[in-house]
Amino acid sequence: MDVEKTTTTKQAIEESFPIVEINRLAVPERNAFKPIYQMHKWFARRASCVFRAILLSAMKPSGTDIMQEFYKDHTNDQDTNGKVILDPFMGGGTTVVEALRLGCKVIGIDLNPVAWFIVKTEVEPVGIDKLKQAFKDLENRKISSGKTLKEELLSHYKTECSCCGNKDADIIYTFWVKSAVCTNPLCKKEVPLFSNYVVAQKSPSIRFYKDVKCPLCAKTFDWEIEPASLIAESSLTINNPIDSCGLGRGNKRHSLSAKNDVKCPWCEKTQTPRLSATKKERKKVVLSVVYCPHCASIFQYRGTVPENVSCPLCKFEFNPQTGNVPDKGKFVCPSCGNKDQIIKSIRSLPNNQLLPTNPYAIEGYCQNCSGDDIEEEIEEEGLFGETIKKTTIKKNVTHLCQLTKNNGKFFKKVDSADIERYQRTLKCWEKEKDNLPYPKQEIPDGQETHRLLEHHYLYWHQMFNPRQLLCLSILLKAIDEEPDWTMKEMLLSAFQLTLESNNMFCSYRENAGGRSPFAELFSRHDFQPKIDPCEINVWGGLATYGPFISSFGKTIKGKMFNINPFDWKHNSSGRTKIISKERFDGRNGDLLCQSSTSFKLERNSVDFVITDPPYAGNVNYSELADFFYVWFRLVLLKKYPHFSPEITSKCEEIVENATRGKSIKDFEQGLTTVFHESNRVLTDNGLLIFTFHHSEGKTWESLLESICNSGFEIWAIYPIHSESEQSLNIRHEQAISFDLIHVCKKRTNNSIDKRSWAGVRQEIRKKAREEVKLIESGRYGNEPLSPPDIQIILTGKCLELYSAHYGNIVDYENNPVPLQQALKEIKAMVDQIISPEEDFPLQMEDIGLESYVWLRYLSWYKTEIKSDDVNKAVKGILDVQDLLDSGLITKGRAKRGRTYEVKQPQQRLPEILEKFQDVPMPQTNLFGEVEAVKTKRKIYFADKIQLLLALIMNKENILPWLERFRGESPQVRVALQFISKKSKELAPYAKRIIEIMDVGPLFK
Ligand SMILES: C[S@@+](CC[C@H](N)C(=O)[O-])C[C@H]1O[C@@H](n2cnc3c(N)ncnc32)[C@H](O)[C@@H]1O
Ligand SMILES: [Zn+2]
Ligand SMILES: [Zn+2]
Ligand SMILES: [Zn+2]
Ligand SMILES: [Zn+2]
Ligand SMILES: [Zn+2]
Repeated sequence: MDVEKTTTTKQAIEESFPIVEINRLAVPERNAFKPIYQMHKWFARRASCVFRAILLSAMKPSGTDIMQEFYKDHTNDQDTNGKVILDPFMGGGTTVVEALRLGCKVIGIDLNPVAWFIVKTEVEPVGIDKLKQAFKDLENRKISSGKTLKEELLSHYKTECSCCGNKDADIIYTFWVKSAVCTNPLCKKEVPLFSNYVVAQKSPSIRFYKDVKCPLCAKTFDWEIEPASLIAESSLTINNPIDSCGLGRGNKRHSLSAKNDVKCPWCEKTQTPRLSATKKERKKVVLSVVYCPHCASIFQYRGTVPENVSCPLCKFEFNPQTGNVPDKGKFVCPSCGNKDQIIKSIRSLPNNQLLPTNPYAIEGYCQNCSGDDIEEEIEEEGLFGETIKKTTIKKNVTHLCQLTKNNGKFFKKVDSADIERYQRTLKCWEKEKDNLPYPKQEIPDGQETHRLLEHHYLYWHQMFNPRQLLCLSILLKAIDEEPDWTMKEMLLSAFQLTLESNNMFCSYRENAGGRSPFAELFSRHDFQPKIDPCEINVWGGLATYGPFISSFGKTIKGKMFNINPFDWKHNSSGRTKIISKERFDGRNGDLLCQSSTSFKLERNSVDFVITDPPYAGNVNYSELADFFYVWFRLVLLKKYPHFSPEITSKCEEIVENATRGKSIKDFEQGLTTVFHESNRVLTDNGLLIFTFHHSEGKTWESLLESICNSGFEIWAIYPIHSESEQSLNIRHEQAISFDLIHVCKKRTNNSIDKRSWAGVRQEIRKKAREEVKLIESGRYGNEPLSPPDIQIILTGKCLELYSAHYGNIVDYENNPVPLQQALKEIKAMVDQIISPEEDFPLQMEDIGLESYVWLRYLSWYKTEIKSDDVNKAVKGILDVQDLLDSGLITKGRAKRGRTYEVKQPQQRLPEILEKFQDVPMPQTNLFGEVEAVKTKRKIYFADKIQLLLALIMNKENILPWLERFRGESPQVRVALQFISKKSKELAPYAKRIIEIMDVGPLFK
């Protein structure tokens, strides 16, 4: 028997957590994950700093400065090395990776084979040089056409450079548009689904001389020494007469020349202008690439795009902002004027037919026009006539080029040569497809996939165009030919990101600001079909987002992280990277692909369960992951049995999903089972720690229920949020959504003695007040916590006492107090304790939730009140419906019922009096506490106050009523004092009642 284990020293996380510091690190981390977490796509990833801090706080004794530990090297740390950590929902592997860094033994489980594969390749020990070699081998692998893989894949994405005529320019993006088939039976024309005709918008910054003067006509203009252009042909640019000069340059004229001969934009003569200043300046120029719906040309607009534009080639006039998609999901036919839903057009097609889709623009890259250095091998004759091989670097721009400034990138129309090349690729696919690996499974119906079927995507391969299928399957085949399995898996791991960005569900944001304009399939967690898909380049001529060369670059960076992990440290100038000496490898990890509803692990074998469980139906992991699974399976099937099913198994998944008949109850039950298993395998002092999203609503409640039902008590709750402390302080009145860290302990109190809720409530209140003091004295660091943070922490503390007696807490009638009710009362208690309202008296804690909300937030309203304000007042303590049921407020008449009215005392008098008929006396309950007994209709404390007010307003005698409410005199008095401060109208009456109370000694 291990003696040490039975002595109960507390762990740091049981007492505190560095909330402010970790939030500060988590916000930027979520915008740019560390390289190891960027190697793959997994859904709803968490910031790793949160898990490093959780792990350290779990393993270090209380009193440890966790932020100091955060940056230490734990390679030889008795507190962390060899500790057994279990993550039953490992997903993208955050807990696994972070625990391995600390030298723990990790058991990671996920039902989903894609998640399992992702984590496996994250932690797999591989040599970087060997990996780079595997990539080189792949690049140069000879494929059936006789070309190398790289040559073959690039050859399908070539176009002619519209500047220098180079036929070997690479396609970066191909822009496609779907067409609806007009649903008017007399028309049936194809309607291209352009929502507008602006293809792309950018604002490059160029150098220029300001206000130079023409020596001939003496007028001034901007002399630009660099071109601002997204297209190659200068004749295809239209200048907006009002603002084409550039941001901040108003309606000045401008002229481009890199040399001293400049054409004056006024007199059109070429000369050398006089400079007003010798310094060059910079300015941004707004450029838009526009598609002409009449002649299909691509031209450029410089300055704001107006409503009426005339195509420089065919002179057709149109508004570039209005296409054939008047509203989302609708089309309007330009031929017959018919307006209908796009989905109706799809339904009118045969079931296996997709909407026609055509390319309409290309963005290309020409190395000749890029201005980049080009390495060239030349042979020279040496002194003695021998040949010497030399590499020289030359700048290849030998022509007048508009594109160099744009790094050789250019937009162009899709010309007949492009169509011809694409046709050739199609033929190639038809010829080769039987010998190539690609998924042939049907898409199963599901919550997310239903949409695909509705849009006639019946097979997974239909999500790709034939060019993408050809290139992806050639690539996959070449990866499969890698002889070393580990290397094969690493290459396959890079293939995942390439899949995500090479399908017809990717899109291009024409105006992306500073961000990447390209959005891959799962930039949203669904399968939303796109009317204007954007295709990239599978291998990649340029390392933009998504081609295989970029994905592989991420694999390398990810694997470097195994050897050189780092953390971020916040400081005044932003953040700095702290390189860590910790090394890790997957051999300390046991990764299992199975359901966590039963672990097959021994009792008492795990020190900590640390996880991030699924969140109801928020993400349908398995439905989404099937997109990757069907491709991975083609290779991994040979080695891993969990890749043998045609599609991932879904029956054991813990999720809310109506199409599979899984309700929120099933979700709750699933979680309970896993928590139950966790309880079994945890040591007695072990902790279950997990993150879970919180917003007002039932999902969180059912989670708390799950914890309590599986033998845990909630020990602490810490908030993690995505907002800065400042904005939280401002927004404290509103409901905010958090991720919460839940710290749970095995419930040790197994007594079956009943506890009274009134008594526990007293303890809870005491505990919450103590905690407030601890918070103020710096328990969570020197920096102040925001009110919403404090609210969450206190709620956690209150839940601790409730959950410790879970199942044994009863009300005065000996009925169990359900968690939902307890939670509401706890929230009201906490609201009051941290209340920024100084006037609100503390004696008011037991007046009931409806009365509390009414008195505290609503009692002084006379007019209509916005539903938003009511929601704020209710804040999860109650549902608005509870207030409506209580009769304290009614639905307002204004704004179509989106307002409420607070009922006034005199208006309510008859109904209150009616309630008071036949009320039994207060009774003593079985714990000796006095509780009001229920009547047919509930009497609220607020009713009593309103009754007194109404009677005094009607000049009636209130003494018998005061006598009747004598037991609550102190509360009545402070409530009236509060009202007299808050309401001008009610103040005289409230004061009058207090005077009467003062006279009668009984009421003091
Ligand atoms: C919220 S994710 C974990 C995300 C992870 N923390 C990360 O940062 O990437 C939840 C995971 O639970 C998995 N899951 C759902 N039901 C499961 C079950 N019965 N057994 C094991 N894993 C399950 C899903 O496949 C999903 O990967
Ligand atoms: Zn060129
Ligand atoms: Zn001139
Ligand atoms: Zn035109
Ligand atoms: Zn029509
Ligand atoms: Zn050029």
